[in-house]
Formats: sequence, C-alpha cells, structure tokens
Amino acid sequence: MKRLKLGMVGGGYGAFIGGVHRIASRIDDRFELVAGALSSNADRAAKSAADLGIAPDRSYSDYSIMAKTEADRSDGIDVVSIVTPNHMHAAPVIAFLRAGVSVICDKPLCATLAEADEIARVVNSSSAHFVLTHNYTGYPLVRQARRMIANGELGVIRVAQIEYAQDWLAKSIENDGQKQAAWRTDPAKSGGGGAIGDIGTHAFNLLGFVTGLKTEALSADLHSFGEGRKVDDNAHILLRMQGGAKAMLWASQIAIGNENRVRLRIYGEKGGLEWDQENPNVMSLTAHGEARRILTCGGAGLGDSASDWTRIPSGHPEGYLEGFANIYSGVADLIEGKNKGELLPGIDEGLQGMLFIDTCLRSAENNGEWLSFAL
Ligand SMILES: NC(=O)c1ccc[n+]([C@@H]2O[C@H](COP(=O)([O-])OP(=O)(O)OC[C@H]3O[C@@H](n4cnc5c(N)ncnc54)[C@H](O)[C@@H]3O)[C@@H](O)[C@H]2O)c1
Repeated sequence: MKRLKLGMVGGGYGAFIGGVHRIASRIDDRFELVAGALSSNADRAAKSAADLGIAPDRSYSDYSIMAKTEADRSDGIDVVSIVTPNHMHAAPVIAFLRAGVSVICDKPLCATLAEADEIARVVNSSSAHFVLTHNYTGYPLVRQARRMIANGELGVIRVAQIEYAQDWLAKSIENDGQKQAAWRTDPAKSGGGGAIGDIGTHAFNLLGFVTGLKTEALSADLHSFGEGRKVDDNAHILLRMQGGAKAMLWASQIAIGNENRVRLRIYGEKGGLEWDQENPNVMSLTAHGEARRILTCGGAGLGDSASDWTRIPSGHPEGYLEGFANIYSGVADLIEGKNKGELLPGIDEGLQGMLFIDTCLRSAENNGEWLSFAL
C-alpha cells in the first residue's frame, strides 16, 4: 500500500497533541512521517526529528523553508499537520496551502477573526485540502448519533445540553511555568478566548455536527476564576438554534473532578440520546414511552454507521486515539479521491468556531446580551 507522505509543524519534545496526531496517522497505516519543523527551538526540532526517524535534510528549523523545500521536491510531502499554539496556525497553514500541500490543522482555526478570514480566502482559492481536527466527530457513536438524528429517529430536536468540563486549570498553574497552560492563558497566543476557545469550540462543533442545526443567536456568561488569569476559564452559553431548538453549552477548565468530560444530551419530540466521551463506547437512547436502551459501539442494532468506523469486535474498547485516527483516515480518503470528506470538519467549521469565540466574547462584555450568529 502506498502511504501518504506526512509533514508536521510543532509536536517536538514536551509538546502534547503532536504525538497524538502521529499515533492517529499510523493506526490505519496510511501515512508516513517524513518531514517536520517540530519546534520553535532549532536544536529541539532537530533532536525530536532524529528520534522520530526523520532524515536530517527533512528536519527544518523554519516552517516557511519547509513548505517551499518540500513543494520543490519530487518526493515532497502530500499533507502537513499543524500542531502549534493557536497564534502559530495561520502563517504555516497559508504557507503550505500556497505551496500546494494539503493541511490538517488542529483547533481552534487560529487566534483572531482577521486571520480566519485570510485562511479562508487561501483555502477557497487552493486545490489542496484543509481539515480541522475537531476529533470528537471521529467517535463511532458520535457519528451514529448524527445519523440517527438526520434520519429523524428523535423527531424534531427540542433541547440540546452539551458540555466540555475539565479541572486542570483549577489552580493558576500558568504562573508556575506549565507550558501548555502558559500559552493557553495568554491572549496573544491563545486568542481572546480561554476555555471558550480551547474546549468550547469542540463542544460547539459537536452540537452542530450531531444535530445538523445551525445556531441563530447566543448569550454568553464568561468568567475567570483563576487568580490573575486574563482569559475565561468557565463559560455558560445559551443558544437558540434553527427550527426553535434550545441549547445550553458549558465549557469549564476549573470544574474539579472532571478530566475530559465531553457530554452530549439531545432531546427531540420522539426521543432522547446521551453520550459521554469518558465512556465513549456506549450511548443511551430512549424512545418516548419506552425503556431506555443502551447501544454499544459496533454492537447489535446500530446499522452500518458506527461499525463503519470501528476496527475491532464490539466489547473491545476504542477511544480517543481511534476516533482521531478516523479523522486521519478520512483525510487519506479525501486526498486519494475516495470520497469528498463529507464527515470531516473543514474551513467552514473553523470559521464558525472563530465566530463562536468572538460572539461569546462580545456578548459577555455586554452582560450576556443576545447576539445573532450567522456566518
Ligand atoms: N484536538 C484536540 O483534542 C487538541 C488537544 C490539545 C491541543 N489541541 C490544539 O493543538 C495545538 C497545540 O496544542 P499543544 O497542547 O500540543 O501545545 P504544546 O505547547 O504542547 O505544543 C506546541 C508545539 O508547537 C511548537 N511550536 C511553536 N511555535 C512553533 C514554530 N514557529 N515552528 C515550529 N514549532 C513551533 C512548540 O515548540 C511545541 O512543540 C493548539 O492549537 C491546541 O488548541 C487540540
């Protein structure tokens, strides 16, 4: 099998999500990491590349040189993963797209709305592909939920409760030099949103992905509990959705006892479903007037939807890495022309996420004023 040649920007020693992308890219064996500008520190970039088996002439200390050099090589990369902090997304995304290289970028799209508009212009004029890793959309049961709602199994959606709760910023660890906390709480690097940008965008994306409904207006209450913290670490958002549905989104990084509690609860006129990322292989489904059913990942009664994206027999847990791998395999299918990437989050979802952050910030500044939301 011919593997796609993958490059990476960010993800060197001590970085978090780059390693997850590398594992995800290899689960279905469709990518080979051959080039990288893995760190903002040239020495660390070179050492990280050597440890990952990247040839010295394909380890770069500057992503713009990497984009140009790889585009000029006959065996240059097909696709690059951008896994740098948010303020360092726009420039490499644009450099690689202009060089004709497809891009997988982690969320949120970037740090500012102006950058988002610029990225969108370049994506829309490029023949290369752009995919944003809202990876929770890769879980089999999340895709199952989306299909069941699209098929009308819950009826018209009335209420959606969606949350992403963590507790790792309950103390201001950014003041003790914790690297991931430091840039996430610095508006110059994270963008204006804190929890709302870092994890609220995942929840917001899931809400649209699963219900298929657009948001029409929102009212936000953002707060920072961390001492001296410049961005929100807790957000409550009310949303009015297309068709009259009401949604409530909670994103928190100070909710002690929660690790990565991504939770979906969706209720329609005919039934309701509930799913929790920390126990992702089960979903509860209740038809009105009937006993609650527990659906399992790849198990009986699901149809093809979830089993299309599971690799092992039901009862063997799959989770975060395999869901992430479903995004990577989707990218391989897209680049190889096997489908049009219908399930993959792309530039529209990226723009919606940035508009979500901006609208929440403006609403919160005005005491939760209801603001319309339209892309
Ligand atoms: N999808 C998810 O579930 C998920 C989870 C965590 C993080 N993320 C996103 O991934 C991105 C990275 O987050 P992280 O937690 O891995 O951050 P991190 O601080 O752990 O790693 C960032 C890496 O980028 C490198 N870097 C910075 N500037 C660079 C430059 N100019 N050239 C090359 N490398 C550079 C750093 O040296 C480091 O290796 C963020 O946008 C974040 O929002 C997504």
